[in-house]
Amino acid sequence: MHKNRFSRIGFILAAAGSAVGLGNIWKFPYITGENGGGIFVLVYLATVFFIGMSIFIAEVLLGSLTNKNAVTTIETLSPPQKKYWKYTGFTFLTGIFILTFYPVVIGWIFNYMVVSVSSLPSNFKESENLFMSFLKNDILSQIFYYTLACVLIAYTISKGVKKGIEKMNNILMPSLIFILTFLLIYSIQLDGFYKAVEFMFYPNFEKFHSSSIIVAVGHAFFTLSIGMATILTYAASLDKNVDIVRASITVVIMDTLIAIVAGLIIFSIVFTAAQEPGKGAGLVFITLPAIFNEMGTIGIYLALLFFIALAFAAITSAISILEPTVMYLVERKNMSRKNATYSVALLAYVLGLLALLSNTESFSTALTFGSKNLFDWFDFISSAILMPIGGILIALFVGYVLDKEVSRKALIPFMGETYYKIWLFTMKIVAPIAIFVLMLNEIGIIKF
Ligand code: PHE
Ligand code: NA
Repeated sequence: MHKNRFSRIGFILAAAGSAVGLGNIWKFPYITGENGGGIFVLVYLATVFFIGMSIFIAEVLLGSLTNKNAVTTIETLSPPQKKYWKYTGFTFLTGIFILTFYPVVIGWIFNYMVVSVSSLPSNFKESENLFMSFLKNDILSQIFYYTLACVLIAYTISKGVKKGIEKMNNILMPSLIFILTFLLIYSIQLDGFYKAVEFMFYPNFEKFHSSSIIVAVGHAFFTLSIGMATILTYAASLDKNVDIVRASITVVIMDTLIAIVAGLIIFSIVFTAAQEPGKGAGLVFITLPAIFNEMGTIGIYLALLFFIALAFAAITSAISILEPTVMYLVERKNMSRKNATYSVALLAYVLGLLALLSNTESFSTALTFGSKNLFDWFDFISSAILMPIGGILIALFVGYVLDKEVSRKALIPFMGETYYKIWLFTMKIVAPIAIFVLMLNEIGIIKF
């Protein structure tokens, strides 16, 4: 076994670690709540399994073919007259944008781990005040927790694939699954569980909005970490002779299951307390803490476990966002891993500070441009524009540029002729068109 590569299970845990993140536990439940439940979940599942999984497989394929950073990978696999495709590899720069707001939210989670054991808010009004005053006025605590998150992420990446990324995921991912299983079992016996199941799986067409489709499709990309060379980069550190199709399917199923389990846990708790599911982004940081408090002592443990799970999920994603840029700098710019990590981390740290400050009362005016503050801009630019572009480029690359014999030889042993054809058709036609339409809509050029 190559000394600095993932084992098969190490890769699956790391890729699942990347995929399972804030997207699953924080975002998926609240957008499901806002978009009426069942029908939203249905569209989400369809996109994840038809388009998302195909692109996921494409990225794993590319990375595993060359075992190199994203730019070198695309360059090596392009025919001589098409070397300019190598610029597709630079989609990892999207990671810098995500790295600005993602660790800020990890900071909030750290704060709520402390809140869980020290002072859960005693009602919804108080809970809202608590979160808002932390977000808007408590600049020093926010920076403290944010810095902690950044140091942890950078430290892990500086240790490399085996000693850093794989080790971290080998500990955090099983713990995450363990905690979520426990919370699921707990919520199954709550009165609200049945209602939660119904809410998530009963397609209520009355609440059906075409804009919900857009949210569902957009989220399907974010949740699988595709379109910014993260999965490609992890696959580049994969040992040879691994069934890449099976590994991809396993990760996509894990990501989906964890999103659904997180939804069931949160909605069971919310419905048991007779609260509304559609509370938006504050579901996890405002609604839940107040309910946990009402539960008494058990609520403190549940709150702590919940925020630990959320932190674990987010940390393993954040490290995967940093790795592609670092691998590029190490391989192409001859930087040491330490220097590469700390330079990128420092850049992201400074930009992230601005994102953090843009939420605060003192700096929001200075750091708001047009309709959004910097925090929202970074989120929007990365998930609504850059990741979809990355997804289209990857699809077009494997669909039209990559030698068919190469993809055939690598994939057919694992998926067979028929699925290969469906996959190729998705890459050439379905994915590029679907993502393009979605993107135009998200940036407001066309409106559904
Ligand atoms: N997939 C992660 C989530 O669901 C986010 C992420 C996006 C991670 C892009 C890596 C790359 O939270
Ligand atoms: Na995810």
